[in-house]
Amino acid sequence: MIRLHALALVPLVLLACADPAVVEPAETPLPSIVDVIDAARLRGAESSGDDWLSHGRTYTEQRHSPLDRIHEGNVGELGLAWVYETRTTRGLEATPLVHDGVMYATGSWSVVFALDARTGVELWRHDPRVSGAAGANACCDVVNRGVALYDGRVYVGALDGRLIALDAKTGTPVWETWTVDPSKPYTITGAPRVVKGKVIIGNGGAELGVRGYVSAYDAATGALAWRFYTVPGDPTLPFEHDELEMAAHTWSGEWWTLGGGGTVWDSLAYDPELDLLYVGTGNGAPWVQSIRSPGGGDNLFLSSILALRPDTGELVWHYQTTPGESWDYTATQHMILADLEIDGRERKVLLQAPKNGFFYVLDRATGELLSAEKYAHVTWATRIDLATGRPVEARGARYAATPKALYPGPIGAHNWHPMSFNPATGLVYLPVQDMGFSFATDPDWQLRPGLTNTGIDPLEGTMSMLSGPVTGSLLAWDPVAQREVWRNGHVRPWNGGTLSTAGNLVFQGTGNATFAAYRATDGERLFEAPTGTGVVAPPMTYAIDGEQYVALLAGWGGGFALASGDPPSETLATGNRGRVLVFRLGGTLRLDVPEPTLAAVVPMDAPIDPQLAERGSALYHRYCGACHGPAAVGGGTIPDLRRSAPETLEALAPILLEGVFSARGMPNFGAWLTDADISALHAYLLEQRARLVADAER
Ligand code: HEC
Repeated sequence: MIRLHALALVPLVLLACADPAVVEPAETPLPSIVDVIDAARLRGAESSGDDWLSHGRTYTEQRHSPLDRIHEGNVGELGLAWVYETRTTRGLEATPLVHDGVMYATGSWSVVFALDARTGVELWRHDPRVSGAAGANACCDVVNRGVALYDGRVYVGALDGRLIALDAKTGTPVWETWTVDPSKPYTITGAPRVVKGKVIIGNGGAELGVRGYVSAYDAATGALAWRFYTVPGDPTLPFEHDELEMAAHTWSGEWWTLGGGGTVWDSLAYDPELDLLYVGTGNGAPWVQSIRSPGGGDNLFLSSILALRPDTGELVWHYQTTPGESWDYTATQHMILADLEIDGRERKVLLQAPKNGFFYVLDRATGELLSAEKYAHVTWATRIDLATGRPVEARGARYAATPKALYPGPIGAHNWHPMSFNPATGLVYLPVQDMGFSFATDPDWQLRPGLTNTGIDPLEGTMSMLSGPVTGSLLAWDPVAQREVWRNGHVRPWNGGTLSTAGNLVFQGTGNATFAAYRATDGERLFEAPTGTGVVAPPMTYAIDGEQYVALLAGWGGGFALASGDPPSETLATGNRGRVLVFRLGGTLRLDVPEPTLAAVVPMDAPIDPQLAERGSALYHRYCGACHGPAAVGGGTIPDLRRSAPETLEALAPILLEGVFSARGMPNFGAWLTDADISALHAYLLEQRARLVADAER
């Protein structure tokens, strides 16, 4: 562990900006932090809606605020109060926290900033200087979902796997520690939680081939308290903890040489009364079970909800949503703790809508499955058998070399975007997407360390994402009756998380560059405003001196944005300029969003060998499509390769083989591509460019 007590703050370079809505950092005194956040304060976070102290507002992760100054009758009067320019162009996924007049949030590349929550004036900014190589390990963009606050400190998990404690007043690092082996392709994008003086943090990387785990660190010192591995390692070696012996019986082959997966990359919740920490685990690595565990088996603890003792990491119960996971069906989706009356009995439940398309209601004391129903279009399984708790898989769902089109696809019917629960309406508000995928095993599979290792035929899969139909919606779901109450269709599939408030409102940003409020009871849209670029992050709310504010980060990005292409035109027009947008009643600031103008593509009159281009397409979809989009269509956050400067395309060899852009997050393919491959990729990119030019002329 590295100790950094006396590190000076890196001087800030402030960008001059012509936008009138930008708040220039000024010399305001730092608000003093008088009100210390301790364990009791975090437990009681329900009582006051003024602050927003932890990721899901409270340990229940309900994302429901008791604030009601903004309500269904006046929400139409919302306007922008202030805007903070994040100086980022990649995805923004964080939930800002607010404590004692200060907002703490994170941007792309794990940058942390503290702002005056009344005005947006920057108080400090900390850049953990994550290397570009860590960006190449991030399957799903260089995002971060936010910080944890505790005892005068701000905790952030950096993309490269460090856990960092900052002084909340100054942003000065207090300690930092590596939570991962930096030689392996782990990443952190999730927000830590602090439970009983311990900082809980997981990690991601299953697409590249890692072994998942969740760790607890002493909040004061950064010392590791415990670690729970979600999949077993080599069974000829001693198991790190007892639970893994049982789990190892559910695997076959030599999975530990491939990683195994089960990463804890987002969802955590805590029940102080039961003293249980809930952990959602991810997909298998590789995705294809016949490669990962050739003899089948459930492969514990992939795609599971675990209940752990927060003091020791000991497992109390587990429930596996997708035994023998083979479709990237993670159970890392947001978990909500609620008390519901079910069949005349008050039950303490845990609610989750994981990627696999079923909405699960579990008894959170015991892990007993109470109900599970489809909340989206699902074809991989017909139902969940309540007696066994297991899915009844559809025939052929375990695809092989022959492609099988299934719903949901790997993007999931619901991804990481948080849902919310309003105890008054009894409804869960969740961002849903309906999107299929053609699954087939990769005929040329081999482990390629440091690159994507899903085992899926990349061309078949990526191209199937373009064939639709693809829809997204905001769904109001009754978790007791397990049925839809209302649903609002969106223009695009990939939208923001949701916020529920006592004003009978649901707030959500959209992938179509808007922010809206809906009546919680019937879904009628009561307010809408432009956001300048596509939104994926969830809104939050807070109050200062009786004035209620609603805040959200606008910055298009995340896995789907990279892998699908087709960004909103505002994103292209602004270059995905990231912002914190804060609204209040009567706010009068206006956001200047330029008219979408895309420069014409410079045609390149080079002869194209169609056979070479076809080989290039196969290479492109194996190595490039997950970031630069299918058919090189570009996702709006990293370059559209059809529009690259001609000089750039002529310099493909140094870019791909020598890693000249590695500092910007572009991988070095020197170990994998040959000069002949570069020629083929070059031909393919020229072909796609020529297509774009021809389309523009039509
Ligand atoms: C892990 C994500 C990722 C993958 C996979 C990836 N790239 Fe990139 N690529 C990037 C990023 C990030 C940049 C730089 C963005 C910037 O300029 O800030 C980039 C930049 C580039 C550029 C420079 C474009 C320009 O106009 O400046 C080229 C060319 C390029 N990539 C080609 C490829 C090719 C070909 C492949 C597949 C062999 C590939 N990339 C795979 C993330 C990726």
